[in-house]
Amino acid sequence: MSKIRYKSRRFFRFLLFFDFSEKKKILAKKSQMSSIVCHPIIKNGIATDARIKKQRPPPLVVARPRDLIQEACERLVLSDQQLRRIMVLMEKSMEQGLSGKKAAVKMLPTYVDAVPNGTEPISTIFFQKGDFLALDLGGTNFRVLHIKLEGKETKMTGKIFRVPESIMRGTGEALFDHIADCMAKFMEENNLKDATKLPLGFTFSFPCEQDGLTRGKLVTWTKGFKASGVEGADVVTLLRDACHRRKDIDIDVVALLNDTVGTLMACAFQENTCQIGVIVGTGTNACYMERLDRIPKLAGYVDEHNVTPEEMIINTEWGAFGDDGALSFLRTKWDDAVDRESINPGQHLYEKMISGMYMGECARVVLEDLAKQGLLFGGHSDAISTPHCFPTKFVSEIDSDLLEDDDRTFQKTYQILEDIGVEMITANDCANVAYVCSLISTRAAHLTAAGIAMLLNRINKKHVTVGVDGSVYRFHPTYPTLLDAKIAELIVGDIEYKLMLSEDGSGRGAALVAAVATRLKEEKLAAATASSER
Ligand code: BGC
Repeated sequence: MSKIRYKSRRFFRFLLFFDFSEKKKILAKKSQMSSIVCHPIIKNGIATDARIKKQRPPPLVVARPRDLIQEACERLVLSDQQLRRIMVLMEKSMEQGLSGKKAAVKMLPTYVDAVPNGTEPISTIFFQKGDFLALDLGGTNFRVLHIKLEGKETKMTGKIFRVPESIMRGTGEALFDHIADCMAKFMEENNLKDATKLPLGFTFSFPCEQDGLTRGKLVTWTKGFKASGVEGADVVTLLRDACHRRKDIDIDVVALLNDTVGTLMACAFQENTCQIGVIVGTGTNACYMERLDRIPKLAGYVDEHNVTPEEMIINTEWGAFGDDGALSFLRTKWDDAVDRESINPGQHLYEKMISGMYMGECARVVLEDLAKQGLLFGGHSDAISTPHCFPTKFVSEIDSDLLEDDDRTFQKTYQILEDIGVEMITANDCANVAYVCSLISTRAAHLTAAGIAMLLNRINKKHVTVGVDGSVYRFHPTYPTLLDAKIAELIVGDIEYKLMLSEDGSGRGAALVAAVATRLKEEKLAAATASSER
């Protein structure tokens, strides 16, 4: 089995915002609001909305009315007790996965059995010259990267290509032809077309059952992909076949990896205590360094040197946690609605409560329901009823309205609601929409925190760095803080951890793994030649 080994000498051996908890809501009385649009829509001190210029809104008043919205949304607030229960259930599911029994959390071996320990300078890792390619497929964008190693120097260039929905959901052949086509264009533009057997690291961010570093069968599509004929097939073979079909590019796939693994590896190069890689982007997932003696399904495993490694990175595929019903105790009717309308109902339920592909839609179905109950938008639900009209970036923008210190003006919230086509927006509506968004994003952060805290407790080392990447972690204004604070509450003992933003794990990480895999391959070849000459 091929795999990668780092020797140490074994190197590759808010609710900040709005004090709803005190039920001190800023509410404008409906009667006062009927003639106005919304409290200040002010840009640079100038009112930008003509209606507002004409009619100064009455001051917002603090009231303690019956809080119907808060009551309706109660189930979106998770207690620490519920989060601890999640931790227990998730670990149980992981143990099932590690034992090889049928399990929601698959716990897929990656055949990367050590992370950099930091004692070697990067130059020794890249102690070779050469060109490497990295492919990164995991969402609506597909990236091709070229990394050039010249001794200590590394240069990286890349290009992003879109994956149209028709390709995501067409045939597998068309998808891999598209990938090969983008790759060929990139190679042409970067004068790499004539290169032979260019080593390539393929970050394929979907669950893959690997039996070596360069082979992996897709278990199931996630994140809106549904290309036919790929589930159950080896994606490296599909990529090679697509390259052979066009005949004008010559590549050598030396590593297949998940984006969480790239994230862990890229962070580990900077911080040798990195043991966990997490993605919270379009989808969510985590990988971590597990002891071989705790992976019963790999009992008896030896590598090509006949050695049983002490550890291996396990791709948890935690997005599927709850697919066996383990999350039923806290899922809501809104989660059910999001799941029902998704392309893969019943699958990746934890992911659907957390990640960027679903967060906006989840907020939207809550808002639609509240509007239907007459609690928002004067009972008008039409505008908010269009599926996917409320992407996750709206949740981020609205949540950032809550970061304003004193008088919250909810400018962005108002603007977003108006753009969607909601009529009769009151100040109350803006505040309540922001409240719902903050509940959804806080719940996502707390659910992720439960997963990370469980892994930290399981690893139980004194200092652990967690490499994190993904659009939700990067761009949501309060998610990282909420995540961090909750992990701190959920870990036990005297574990110290830190979250580290990974700089382009799926691209850089793949190129790094490709470089090392190539070096190991060359070393092996040299050793074989030497022994045959003896
Ligand atoms: C996939 C994982 C991936 C995660 C983040 C999930 O949908 O199943 O393999 O790591 O998204 O991209």
